[in-house]
Amino acid sequence: MKVTSKMAKLATLKSSCLVLPVLKGKKLTRSGQSLGKLVAQQMKRCPLDLDFGEILLLNHVPDVSAERVLLIGCGKDLSFGKFQGLITKLTNYLNAQGIKDAALGDFYDLVKGETPHWHQAQITEQACHASYSFQQCKGRDKKTNKFQQMHLVVGTQGAKTKADLAIKKATALSKGVTFTRDLGNLPPNICHPSYLAQQAKKLARDYTKIKTTVLNEKQMKTMGMGSLLSVAQGSKQPPRFITMEYRGAAASEAPIALVGKGVTFDSGGLSLKPAAAMVHMKYDMCGAATVFGVIKAIAEMKLKINVVGIVPSVENMPDGNSFRPDDIVKSLSGLTIEIGNTDAEGRLILCDALTYSERFKPKAVVDIATLTGACVVALGTHTSGLFGNHQPLIDALNSAGQQTYDRAWPMPLFDEYQDDLKCAHADIQNIGSRWGGAITAACFLSRFTKKLKWAHLDVAGTAFKEGPQKSATGRPVPLLVHYLTTQAGK
Ligand code: BES
Ligand code: MN
Ligand code: ZN
Repeated sequence: MKVTSKMAKLATLKSSCLVLPVLKGKKLTRSGQSLGKLVAQQMKRCPLDLDFGEILLLNHVPDVSAERVLLIGCGKDLSFGKFQGLITKLTNYLNAQGIKDAALGDFYDLVKGETPHWHQAQITEQACHASYSFQQCKGRDKKTNKFQQMHLVVGTQGAKTKADLAIKKATALSKGVTFTRDLGNLPPNICHPSYLAQQAKKLARDYTKIKTTVLNEKQMKTMGMGSLLSVAQGSKQPPRFITMEYRGAAASEAPIALVGKGVTFDSGGLSLKPAAAMVHMKYDMCGAATVFGVIKAIAEMKLKINVVGIVPSVENMPDGNSFRPDDIVKSLSGLTIEIGNTDAEGRLILCDALTYSERFKPKAVVDIATLTGACVVALGTHTSGLFGNHQPLIDALNSAGQQTYDRAWPMPLFDEYQDDLKCAHADIQNIGSRWGGAITAACFLSRFTKKLKWAHLDVAGTAFKEGPQKSATGRPVPLLVHYLTTQAGK
């Protein structure tokens, strides 16, 4: 999907399809009215108001140069979510109709209090999001989108300059989101730890401001990442520890570290998952994919900030050489961990990565992980779980989620929960009691972040969709990119 701005008069604009919003009460917005009687006449002919999302396609409206005029009911004072839904509906409709390109008249005042360029950025993002489908692995049945081009019509040069900037930023973000979705959707026989490492190296080739380093098993062993390595040892796929440094600001400026769970397939290990729960476990590297997408987006935006992306990547498999329940392993931090369940593997790779992040002396560390089914039970699939040990960081992430509609919700980390990790024979264990599993997992991570300003996003419910809509969502890339944008230059 390509989105550009276009300075033009609506009546004389040449396009396959001119799209105009119809507000409640048969009202056209400003530039729609400038089409004068033409469209208005047609509207009088249609007996009803257009309901929200309802579409009326008019062919060859006299004195309008566009081949068609599409009217879409926009209601009034839309919420952010409704506005997103509207653009999704419009994009899908144009695609289904086989219309190659469309020009949008002023979709400005639909969400109250938001500027025209906010609307333009959202339209760009949502049109890209809606026209995404994962086709890389199709053999014969590859589909391509008919609808390829969207023009956002503006009236003045000043408006065009602003629109161009908004579209550029939104396009950069969309490239990151698309990258995250592609990595997430790739099957686990292709997207294994070494594949992720190759992708990280490719990012460094594509963007001069990115530097990638990859540690292999031997190097991790020398460093003392015993916790991470224990998870990897049952797989034929060797683990990789990937670091991507994006330098957009002075070297003296402390970076923000992002740590992403990169379990390319989670069978559960010897604590094997039942068949139904194992489906979708290729998505257990969506935290890692988020880090990749964020790094790509901020490199596209040339954001003036330093960011370190850290991705511990393993496959969790049962095998004669697998780690076992009751094993005791030693983490990079020195803490020993008794394995209660090999399916609680995410925290075991993240803890070593969080300890490793200390060497970058980061201003803040945020980890992103499809960590617990319990988080999905608690919050469902619309909201990510947000934990942390530093209130301003939690607040900033919470706010970034609301600003982008990629929302997260704060969860408690009260001391009492820490008791669950007590264990007789090692310093801590990797599981707790039956209840509050998302919190226990975050408590576990908090044991390794005492020297850091840290937050944790549990995205098990939000990073991918199940069922007929099965796909990675690209969340929480928008949240994190927005957060980094607010931190740039601070
Ligand atoms: N990768 C899973 C969590 C998950 C579940 C992600 C559903 C996406 C959808 C994680 O490694 C896991 O298996 N967690 C266990 C922890 C338990 C053994 C303490 C869980 O949530 O059941
Ligand atoms: Mn697991
Ligand atoms: Zn997992």
